[in-house]
Amino acid sequence: MSKLEIGSGNKPKEGYLHFDIRNNVNADVVGDAKNLPFKDEEFSEVYSRFFLEHLFRKDAKIALREMYRVLKKEGTLEIIVPNIACFCKLFLNESGQKKEWALNKIYGFENYAEDHHYFGYDEETLKNFLIETGFREIERVKTEEQYLYLRAIK
Ligand SMILES: C[S@@+](CC[C@H](N)C(=O)[O-])C[C@H]1O[C@@H](n2cnc3c(N)ncnc32)[C@H](O)[C@@H]1O
Repeated sequence: MSKLEIGSGNKPKEGYLHFDIRNNVNADVVGDAKNLPFKDEEFSEVYSRFFLEHLFRKDAKIALREMYRVLKKEGTLEIIVPNIACFCKLFLNESGQKKEWALNKIYGFENYAEDHHYFGYDEETLKNFLIETGFREIERVKTEEQYLYLRAIK
């Protein structure tokens, strides 16, 4: 299979090899995304949804470099993270459950040990991380304000 999902958790995307650090979510391969157990240029697509924000920023850069390494030339990365700009606005402007939801999206829901957010991204920040890693042709796939869904090419 030449499509890899990183941090697949309880919502694995169909058609992908599923990789996660937790051994209780039926991942095909268990491990740490900072050190992917795959060869260089093994995959044509890497997909990751609501994972990168679970890493400290220096570790996120390492994980992105790993994603880049395992992608074939011209391969595609699709990455989705919460848009911290949106949730900061909600936190400041809302109260009650919406404010609580914004806090969960900023800091993580704390439903299990790894369920913390250690860094937040707006579009500029995520694009800069991708550019720094070497990705090009970065585009926003969907324009919903609450999350950033970017596609980039190796
Ligand atoms: C919020 S869940 C997202 C799950 C799924 N992708 C989704 O969209 O619902 C984040 C996932 O990243 C995984 N994760 C956290 N740190 C990781 C790491 N260093 N390496 C691999 N997976 C990690 C967690 O175990 C968890 O399953």
